[in-house]
Amino acid sequence: MSSSEAASRRVYIETYGCQMNTYDSSAIGGILTRSGYALASDPAAADIILLNTCSVRELAEHKVFSRIGELRSLRRRGQIRADIIGVCGCMAERLSGALATGEGHADLVAGVDQYAQLPRMLARLLSGAARTPPLATGHLAEMHYVAPPAAYPANNSHLVTIHKGCDYRCTYCIVPATRGPQREKAPSAILDEIRGIVAAGGDEVTLLGQNVTAYRAPGLDFAGLLRQVAGIDGLARIRFLTGHPCDMDERLIGTIGSLDKVCPWLHLPAQSGSDRILRRMKRFYTRDQYLSLIETARRLVRDATFSGDFIVGFPGETDDDFRLTLELVREVRYDQTFNFKYSARPGTPAARLDDDVDIAVKKERLAEVMRLQDEIWQELAAQEIGHCRRAAVEGRARRPEGALKARTPNNRKVLLKDCNAAVGDVLDIRITGCEATTFFAELA
Ligand code: SAH
Ligand code: SF4
Ligand code: F3S
Repeated sequence: MSSSEAASRRVYIETYGCQMNTYDSSAIGGILTRSGYALASDPAAADIILLNTCSVRELAEHKVFSRIGELRSLRRRGQIRADIIGVCGCMAERLSGALATGEGHADLVAGVDQYAQLPRMLARLLSGAARTPPLATGHLAEMHYVAPPAAYPANNSHLVTIHKGCDYRCTYCIVPATRGPQREKAPSAILDEIRGIVAAGGDEVTLLGQNVTAYRAPGLDFAGLLRQVAGIDGLARIRFLTGHPCDMDERLIGTIGSLDKVCPWLHLPAQSGSDRILRRMKRFYTRDQYLSLIETARRLVRDATFSGDFIVGFPGETDDDFRLTLELVREVRYDQTFNFKYSARPGTPAARLDDDVDIAVKKERLAEVMRLQDEIWQELAAQEIGHCRRAAVEGRARRPEGALKARTPNNRKVLLKDCNAAVGDVLDIRITGCEATTFFAELA
């Protein structure tokens, strides 16, 4: 592209949704800075605003629609100067051309496989050559991935997306439609990217994908990839998100347990504790299988802790089904659960079912599972007080001023007051208290 259009143009990227979008946003930033654009840290300072969006629930999309409306009205009133407000990510993919027309439309629409096109699309807009909003959506058949970020921020921990898309068909889920089929990043590209992170001073990575446990390259599955990543000198910790319970066999769990660098924290969405609902969701495991997986992980992975996702109010969910979910939460004793009210997504198989759980009941169930999880966490957190742990320093906290932010291998957040250490240092600490999900600690 001609850098003349890009020269001194500032781009602000606002990210919604999951960590895969967080990664993509930094990749988009990399693509654009390599084309001569500069990044802005505030929408008011930007000439171009890109919203990297999420479609997973109706509410996520509503948020973005009202944000586009708000930005357009700020622009009309001259309160922001951006002349391009574009939409990227899952909504761009799902709604495509519909986002480029009507009230509150976007000036540009770029789907999840199209970020390499952004410099060309922006150049057309900036040169006045585009009569209608530039639009690029649709999935690329061949293995394809956006370039990694151009530079890594001064931080010890980084995201590394290892594949795109999803081949499962959980009946409630829009992700296979928005992200497309599962396509892998080559092992050599993953390893190079991580070596680059280590060379830039990072020592922790989170391997990302909708189903990292389903990673498959010629002669290499996810367990094999973990072993190769663990072999990288200078890398201290490996986390991964998200594993699908139906891919977590004893061999993979054994590998996780046997590699010191792999953190003993597993995010394993269960979605429901009722076999009847799990079948309707097409999750391919039963409640018993899920619980035996947790038991295997406790046996093979020292100090394993868990987090999970749950959907309440899936079509046909009775009070008895929901009780089974509560019992499962009680049995597993997660550190954290992410709980959602079922939201019918157009075109998904579950959208054809009667969305028959009243919204008031969904809200009650959501509040109840959150209350239970809160109680469990209070108990788990209280048991931690007085214990010595290790935590890696991630930076300075905003509050209390001057405190250090750190994280344990189990993904527990820790604040240390009156302590001096560099980002990346691993400290021996003693837990002294806990507020919400953050522990307070002192040097041990
Ligand atoms: N790939 C991951 C996460 C997918 S999206 C996995 O397989 O678990 C993140 C979470 O959003 C899901 O785990 C699910 O709990 C929730 N979710 C997805 N679709 C939803 C819908 N239609 N309504 C409510 N919650 C949903
Ligand atoms: Fe969605 Fe299921 Fe794929 Fe996760 S595994 S992204 S919930 S279809
Ligand atoms: Fe949302 Fe797309 Fe992630 S729908 S959860 S941003 S894959």
